[in-house]
Amino acid sequence: MSDFVNGFWGYFISIVAVGGVAFCVWLLYSQRRWLGVQPAGSGQVEDTGHVWDGDLTELNNPVPGWWTWMFLLACAVALGYLFLMPGLGSYQGQLGYSSANEVAQQQARMAEAVRPIYARFETMTIPQIAADPGAREIGQRLFLNTCAQCHGSDAKGGPSFPNLADNDWLYGGSPDTIMQTITNGRVGVMPPWKSVIDPKAAGDIAQYVRSLSGLAADPERVLRGQHGYQTYCIACHGADGKGNPVLGAPNLTDDVWLYGSSETSIIRTILEGRENHMPAHGDILTPVQIKILTAWVWGLSNKPDAPSQPAPAAPSADQALPHG
Ligand code: HEC
Ligand code: HEC
Repeated sequence: MSDFVNGFWGYFISIVAVGGVAFCVWLLYSQRRWLGVQPAGSGQVEDTGHVWDGDLTELNNPVPGWWTWMFLLACAVALGYLFLMPGLGSYQGQLGYSSANEVAQQQARMAEAVRPIYARFETMTIPQIAADPGAREIGQRLFLNTCAQCHGSDAKGGPSFPNLADNDWLYGGSPDTIMQTITNGRVGVMPPWKSVIDPKAAGDIAQYVRSLSGLAADPERVLRGQHGYQTYCIACHGADGKGNPVLGAPNLTDDVWLYGSSETSIIRTILEGRENHMPAHGDILTPVQIKILTAWVWGLSNKPDAPSQPAPAAPSADQALPHG
């Protein structure tokens, strides 16, 4: 595969590479009169005519023979390399080597090597995998590699990234739903309301939303806000404020917040809206890796089936290491 956007650059690079070697050979050839101009043993050395301090002459000694041959050998090695390996534009080289192929081969060997390790999880249920200490270890490593940059190494999330360990779900916490979230990703869209709701009314609605979670709120503004909530918000968040997992509309009554519970933050959510993306991982991970990750995430907030060996398993040295 050629990485060049058009043929020109391939030729350009070939010309520079071959031309560079040709230039070196020409340079040596053009300076050849330095070689063997003096009869050996004559003791006479040509000088350049430059003299410093009255008696320091600059001699014009010929380049030693061994050096000349090393130089020519280096040119020959360069040409041989360009013939065998890809170096001339889109020419593949006689050996057909490519670093992309090498990676693909290594990945195929790796997949083959780990197949038996994953095989036993293919027939197990999610609760069974969640109870398996080996699977938990694999799950945690997969999580640290692919998920922790957003959800945190402890899976507890952060502003705009949901906590996966608290059994509070935007989309639902059943194994099937978690697997769907990981495979296909999710987009949570809270529409902006600033063209409909003025900031003062948004503040009142924010007071009402805070009151749903039992947070301090001004009773008079709560009453005014309730009306606005019922007009604009129940379609997604529900009349009782408990949310809607089909849309990923959060439960507003549980004091669990993606963006924070302050009036300012809630007003911003109402006026500007929010859009949140969980990327799809169906193309990045294999189905059995997704299954193990599903079990690991599910196991964070569910009691897995009683494992056959004494639980809980002692944390391995690996798990105790801080995630870098
Ligand atoms: C680029 C950041 C990012 C990465 C990487 C990422 N996530 Fe997410 N994830 C999010 C965001 C943002 C949401 C919330 C989406 C929303 O609000 O609609 C989310 C939501 C979720 C949910 C739904 C939570 C709920 O309450 O319903 C699960 C489960 C989840 N992620 C698991 C994972 C797993 C497992 C991985 C690794 C394979 C992963 N995520 C990787 C950003 C990420
Ligand atoms: C079209 C459906 C829809 C409507 C209508 C809607 N929301 Fe939302 N809302 C959402 C979704 C989806 C999210 C989650 C966004 C995300 O994942 O980042 C959300 C998030 C929020 C949050 C953030 C919660 C948190 O955990 O930080 C608040 C607060 C909120 N909405 C309040 C309101 C209020 C008040 C109204 C009425 C003015 C309203 N919403 C109308 C769908 C809706």
